[in-house]
Amino acid sequence: MKSDIARKLDGYDALMGEIAAARKYGSDFTPLRGRLQDAVARLHPHRVALRVSRVIDETPSTRTLRLVPAAGNLPPFQTGQYITLFFDLGGVRTARPYSISSAPSQTAFWEITVRRVAEGLVSNHLLDLGPGALLESSGPAGTFVFNPVIHPPQLVCIAGGSGITPFMSMIRETVQRDLPRRITLLYGNRRLDDVIFHAELNELARSAVQFDYIPVVEDPPGNYPGRRGLIDAPLIREACGTLDDKVFFVCGPQGLYDHVLPQLEAMAVPRRRLRCEIYGAPANVWEQPGWPAEVDRHARFTVTLPGGRHVEAPAAVPLIRSLEKSGWAIPSLCRSGTCSLCRLKLLSGRIFQPPGVPVRSSDRRFGYIHACVSYPLSDLEILL
Ligand SMILES: Cc1cc2nc3c(=O)[nH]c(=O)nc-3n(C[C@H](O)[C@H](O)[C@H](O)COP(=O)(O)OP(=O)(O)OC[C@H]3O[C@@H](n4cnc5c(N)ncnc54)[C@H](O)[C@@H]3O)c2cc1C
Ligand code: FES
Repeated sequence: MKSDIARKLDGYDALMGEIAAARKYGSDFTPLRGRLQDAVARLHPHRVALRVSRVIDETPSTRTLRLVPAAGNLPPFQTGQYITLFFDLGGVRTARPYSISSAPSQTAFWEITVRRVAEGLVSNHLLDLGPGALLESSGPAGTFVFNPVIHPPQLVCIAGGSGITPFMSMIRETVQRDLPRRITLLYGNRRLDDVIFHAELNELARSAVQFDYIPVVEDPPGNYPGRRGLIDAPLIREACGTLDDKVFFVCGPQGLYDHVLPQLEAMAVPRRRLRCEIYGAPANVWEQPGWPAEVDRHARFTVTLPGGRHVEAPAAVPLIRSLEKSGWAIPSLCRSGTCSLCRLKLLSGRIFQPPGVPVRSSDRRFGYIHACVSYPLSDLEILL
């Protein structure tokens, strides 16, 4: 009876023909199911247990941590990707992303290079770790990567401060594997002793034809022979020559984007040839365009959670932090509004999201917010 009804459906004969062909000529992967799942889990693990095997002093405020697997192997990554480290610090479950600064051809370890942030919870913890310390991380993530299919092989990398880390991975890989690419690095720092990897970058630029290095120091010593000031349009033009055969990558603190992006726009660099790594929530959010003047940055609001529980949330702190501080660990990866893992539904109240945060229009329409880049402007009611 059932099969009689099925025979009357439109397209039944064509579909049965396709199933018969698939049975005759197709591959049956069913016996491999377990092995395929194992392979996928090895390539894209949910969590990786890591051990610090070496700590390298880079500058007075920066160290590189070499991380080896505490068990098994490390999954592969693409240059420019980051890992997110998870912590329980003082009773707070939190996470922070760090770009991998080593090259992917080095499969025995990952290196991350961490700069101390004044009063920063995690950077200060990481910089006090020694060899043997254990860490929990995500698998590699992020799309700040060079794609040889769509990008021209000439890269202009513009970095500020610790934003050098994804570029270090790209440069090391390009030089070590002698890849057919050309990289020009413009690297801005406030002081000369802030410049991370300075000696290695100078050496790579001297020895490799694919790489040019232009450090720019805002406040160098009086006798400094190199570039002074900020990375600006005349310098970019001088370093690049023609612009239309290049792809631009920018990574660094908020000040770098505020200064450099308008200059690239004025030089008519199209958006499709410009990649930016968003480097976390802005430090002084109340200085961002669009912050409502009537909301005091010291204001504190109440967030109501399901079950009628309440959390206190300061206006100038990303919502995810206030929730974590109160014991509500929200899943997170990028902590900068791009991966969508920390989405929450806003039932009532107003939040501020800094300009440039890539929130989908459907999320806006149906009231979903990214807790990592949302700041309360009133009391809120949310659904976790
Ligand atoms: C994709 C991605 C990759 C990253 N890669 C690196 C990396 O390779 N190396 C690295 O050192 N960091 C990197 N970061 C930043 C890192 O994730 C942390 O945000 C940083 O270490 C500060 O964390 P914290 O817990 O010490 O400070 P928090 O406790 O989070 O912040 C303390 C205070 O400092 C402000 N603040 C936070 N970060 C900064 C900053 N960078 N500069 C100035 N003020 C800040 C905050 O607004 C807050 O007021 C990356 C961020 C992202 C999103
Ligand atoms: S953690 Fe990625 S969007 Fe918030």
